[in-house]
Amino acid sequence: MLGITKRFGPVTACDGIDFVLGRGEVHCLLGENGAGKTTLMSILFGLIPPDDGQIIVDGTSVQFGSPRDALNHGIGMVHQHFMLVPEFTVAENVVLGSRPAWTPRFDRAAAEEEVREVARTSGLEVDPRALIRDIPVDVQQRVEILKLLYRGAKVLILDEPTASLGPAGIKSLFEGLATLREQGHSAILITHKLTEVTAVADGVTVLRGGRLQGSFRQGNTDEAELARAMTGGDIAALPVRRAASGGEVVLRVRGLTVKDTVTGRNAVEDLDLEVAAGEIVGIAGVEGNGQRELADALAGVLAPESGTILLDDADITAMPPRARHAAGLGVIPEDRLRWGLVADLTLAENLALSDISRGGLRRRGRLLDLDGMQARAAELLETYGVRPPNPKARASQLSGGNQQKVVIAREMSRQPRLLVAAQPTRGLDVGAIDYVHRQILDMRDRGGAVLLVTNELEELIALSDRIAVMYRGRFVYRAVTADADVDAIAMAMAGISPEDADAQPGAAMEVA
Ligand SMILES: Nc1ncnc2c1ncn2[C@@H]1O[C@H](COP(=O)(O)OP(=O)(O)OP(=O)(O)O)[C@@H](O)[C@H]1O
Ligand SMILES: [Mg+2]
Repeated sequence: MLGITKRFGPVTACDGIDFVLGRGEVHCLLGENGAGKTTLMSILFGLIPPDDGQIIVDGTSVQFGSPRDALNHGIGMVHQHFMLVPEFTVAENVVLGSRPAWTPRFDRAAAEEEVREVARTSGLEVDPRALIRDIPVDVQQRVEILKLLYRGAKVLILDEPTASLGPAGIKSLFEGLATLREQGHSAILITHKLTEVTAVADGVTVLRGGRLQGSFRQGNTDEAELARAMTGGDIAALPVRRAASGGEVVLRVRGLTVKDTVTGRNAVEDLDLEVAAGEIVGIAGVEGNGQRELADALAGVLAPESGTILLDDADITAMPPRARHAAGLGVIPEDRLRWGLVADLTLAENLALSDISRGGLRRRGRLLDLDGMQARAAELLETYGVRPPNPKARASQLSGGNQQKVVIAREMSRQPRLLVAAQPTRGLDVGAIDYVHRQILDMRDRGGAVLLVTNELEELIALSDRIAVMYRGRFVYRAVTADADVDAIAMAMAGISPEDADAQPGAAMEVA
């Protein structure tokens, strides 16, 4: 890609960027939130046209009007939000859209055989007959990759592929990429994480504020140099965790059982949990083990089958979300675009949502105080470092990380009694992660209670006072963080209890 430029109104998302990818290369695209990574790759995948610049594939200048054009040149992209049909099998999802038509003569057996063959040659193991809804996230990701391989893709673009994976999933993804590389495929990984660059990349390109900061080869650079290129300065260390306060219990969950709305199985099973004032309790687990349903039940968007939820001794089990909010609950939902924000509203409107429902920001009782909304939004956007800090921008126009900052600004600024934070730093760059961590620790130090649900082990250990690992809807490991054993946590996430691990020495995995 040569001199790629893309403007969105006043924002220059990509400013004359050059990007080179070799055959059989795994290349990381590194940069902070809003650096232009997704935009650059969306241009390469034919999703959006560049304003300027050239794309050259195998020595030929090309123009992509759609992803189909890009695929015809062997370029495919996996989005961060998977686009699979949960009710379809793996094989159906892989061939979906690439066959001429779904006639009554759709040859299921032939499709399954083809998919089995692609899976075998690429080393990405899947069961072609499994339903998507029944397989874990890392296997779903494999299916997304298989979809591209099935369509003949030679270049795989993966947008933040590790964000929703646990340590085991990341390991198997990286092994899969190594196999594909041996077969002459290339991959581009969008990431914020320096450790991933060192783990898999042959090359790395760093973007910052829409500009190219540099391209490096593995071995010719180190994490410190990359961090400087990415942030324009040195990155701050993780805040130090302090001892817990031992305050009164704020959240008390008893015998909570929550059904998965799709499968009808128990996603959360007979769970007991307490979070005290001045305490952060961290819930770890590989995605799909009930953490989301637990958070949703606490937020009031999913009704439990049985059990009780007490907030400051008030029974909120049957309360609607708005009443819970008023009772002192703050929520950072995992799926920010679905539950955290209204994409087509402005930032001022998004930031005012809960205030308005509680009667705030109004004039003469009924009219909205628009000036007050703008002013308050401008202040929050500035304080929470949202880019651009424009109250009139629509939420849909912000980069993923900046959207998350808006949700955090709204929920944290209310100073809730209990904060349920699900994957609060997913998709955030180092600077923003550090900021969110400080916010969560501050809230804890002011006497708030925090339930943190995260897939990031480093984050879990850095922030939590107590840790619980969820596996198939239950806590399989609990510890005070000071006594926690990282290997035991990682193994519990993979469903291996500490006793099993002792019996099979090879089962222990490394955690970065
Ligand atoms: N459709 C759009 N309309 C307006 N502005 C946009 C649009 N898409 C992206 N931008 C802006 O372009 C810039 C780059 O965004 P992009 O999504 O490429 O960043 P990113 O590097 O992928 O960030 P993140 O790590 O947060 O996902 C941001 O300032 C963003 O607000
Ligand atoms: Mg992005």
